[in-house]
Amino acid sequence: MEQKEQWGSRWGFILAAVGSAVGLGNIWRYPYVAYENGGGAFLVPYLIALFTAGIPILLLEYAIGHKGRGSTPQSLAKLSNKFEWLGWWQVLVSFVIVTYYMVIIGWAASYAYFSIGTQWGNDTEDFFMNQFLHISDDVWSFGGIQWNVLLPVVIIWVLAYFIMRRGIQKGIEVASRILLPILVLMMVLITVRAVTLPGATEGLDVLLTPDFSKMLDPSVWAAAYGQVFFSLSLGMSIMITYASYLKKNSDLSNSGLIAAFANSGFEFLSAIAVFGALGFLAAQQGVSVDEVVSQGIGLAFVVFPNIINAFPGFNAFFGIMFFGCLVFAGFTSAISLLQPGIAAFQQKFGISHKAAINWICGLGFLVTVLYTTNSGLMVLDIVDHFINIFGILFSAFISVILVGWFAKQLRPLQDHINSVSDIRIGSWWVVVLRFIVPVVLGYILIQYTIEEVAKPYGGYPVSALITFGYAFMVLLLVAGFVLQRGSWKGLSPDQDN
Ligand code: ALA
Repeated sequence: MEQKEQWGSRWGFILAAVGSAVGLGNIWRYPYVAYENGGGAFLVPYLIALFTAGIPILLLEYAIGHKGRGSTPQSLAKLSNKFEWLGWWQVLVSFVIVTYYMVIIGWAASYAYFSIGTQWGNDTEDFFMNQFLHISDDVWSFGGIQWNVLLPVVIIWVLAYFIMRRGIQKGIEVASRILLPILVLMMVLITVRAVTLPGATEGLDVLLTPDFSKMLDPSVWAAAYGQVFFSLSLGMSIMITYASYLKKNSDLSNSGLIAAFANSGFEFLSAIAVFGALGFLAAQQGVSVDEVVSQGIGLAFVVFPNIINAFPGFNAFFGIMFFGCLVFAGFTSAISLLQPGIAAFQQKFGISHKAAINWICGLGFLVTVLYTTNSGLMVLDIVDHFINIFGILFSAFISVILVGWFAKQLRPLQDHINSVSDIRIGSWWVVVLRFIVPVVLGYILIQYTIEEVAKPYGGYPVSALITFGYAFMVLLLVAGFVLQRGSWKGLSPDQDN
């Protein structure tokens, strides 16, 4: 069984890659990370991270997938038969991410509906925690499934299932072609409205005022690299898988640059919209912007409902647009997170496309249900925190070490990129991946590990951090080695397609 599917065109691939990159991370993570880490001055570490790690690793992943022409474990096994486990590990990382990503998309869909008549009332935090999620007192009190939370999540899973069933070209590519332009249009409208709100300029001032002294702080650099990784969907096996469906002579470097810049552009747009709206909220409440600013789940589901409450007319429309953006951005990332597992299981076990989708979506859905229980939010928070560091960053670190130092495959991959691309990449690419990326990522990982040990994350009980954090991350790695043991029942790595 060969990997016969292909993107309809290079633009189809680029749109899917941008759809994957532009996700929840762009809308609720970037604005806050920029604000926290030097405001306008954050652009310097951000752009340096983009050029010294983001784009080089993006091109590395494209090259591995395009040269290997198989799923992530298979493409890595073609570089060296000892690397298959690394591919499985990254596949499992993307699988774990999608199981909770779907839940957040479900919440956003519910909130788009709640925007009509601002059904969350005035105490938006109480509404989110108690009336919507019915959050329990501690992480071990799972209670039961919250059906109101589960229902929209089921719908999102079913939609994703049918898109995956349609395959690469008719499913993922068509979905990205339709959803991405709508998403950009909605975000532009939100931004225009947000910056014309009273008080918006104060918000933008806070976001953009440069604090260059922050650039001496190593944690600012760690934040910049972390943001670029998550946002470009690196270390999640997505880009390797996506690139494997490109035609043999497809340009890689140009596509990578377009995808990376489009993703950053969307990130900047979101930051302007979010801080414009936060400036407005601060002005309405007569407080400083620093007092209303928040990130992640708190920004989207507690602060934004407050903004919508205070909105001068058409607030339901603004709410639907904002939460609609989260749903669309999240959905194109979610389908990209599903594909690596589907491709890898199909090829490894020699099962049909449909059977692989049934397995991945079926298992994924079962795990998702855990996050719709009373302690779902807490479990989600722990898994998300650990997977970002010990899944994405750590596996990316290991991959540059293995590919660059052990297999010494950077030159052949550089030649591969140059043989198909208009923009030739020079030796700088090899130098960056061999020296700069391992040092920077290694440093960040050590910093994070020291922080983790010194201050257990989020004040959760250690037993929960071990179960859903440390032990779970080790399990994913071990599972990678276990999966490597079996032979390829489908397309084998040395079979040329
Ligand atoms: N790159 C995706 C995001 O930013 C995963 O959410």
